[in-house]
Amino acid sequence: MEPIRKELVGQAKGLVLEVGAGNGLNFAYYNPALVERVEATEPDSAMLRYARTRATAAPVPIKLTQTPVEQLPFADEYFDSVVCTLVFCSVNDPLKGLQEIRRVLKPGGQLLLVEHVRARVPFNAFIQDLITPLTRLFLGNCHWNRNTEQTVQAAGFQEITRERSMPVGELMPLVTIQASR
Ligand SMILES: C[S@@+](CC[C@H](N)C(=O)[O-])C[C@H]1O[C@@H](n2cnc3c(N)ncnc32)[C@H](O)[C@@H]1O
Repeated sequence: MEPIRKELVGQAKGLVLEVGAGNGLNFAYYNPALVERVEATEPDSAMLRYARTRATAAPVPIKLTQTPVEQLPFADEYFDSVVCTLVFCSVNDPLKGLQEIRRVLKPGGQLLLVEHVRARVPFNAFIQDLITPLTRLFLGNCHWNRNTEQTVQAAGFQEITRERSMPVGELMPLVTIQASR
């Protein structure tokens, strides 16, 4: 994930929102020449504690807020970029979360997202469907079978570009998405 994080996060600019920041692994990769400030959100208290430590060492100012992506406490059309890595597999309401992201992005603002998603090969998708009840139970509500590309589109994003890679075999294809509001 490190090269992917570097490349994706390095494209964020202006006033940035990071959703589901986890323990703050992305914070080191923000480019201070491009980024004014990052508002990072994360619902989990334990993750937030680690994220606070990483935020103090980050190359850009980072403010942390405890909140889920489905309820973002920010004004409409506020951010230039939104960064989101490996979050939508575990969000309770992905469509609502992506609609919230779209709401807080300025017109022309960029969503930069990487997720593991539903396999294209029907047999592999079937295996993902079988595994998902277990991954939800034991891996923090992680769904291996989500079609997040489709949900990004359903939330109203445009000019969607995507790139697929398969670092953990065909059962966990990774997709990098850039989309504008
Ligand atoms: C696999 S971790 C990824 C963390 C981080 N983005 C990264 O790339 O290292 C998934 C994260 O999504 C967060 N998450 C789960 N449900 C969420 C929600 N509804 N809104 C925002 N974040 C959520 C979890 O708390 C967790 O920190």
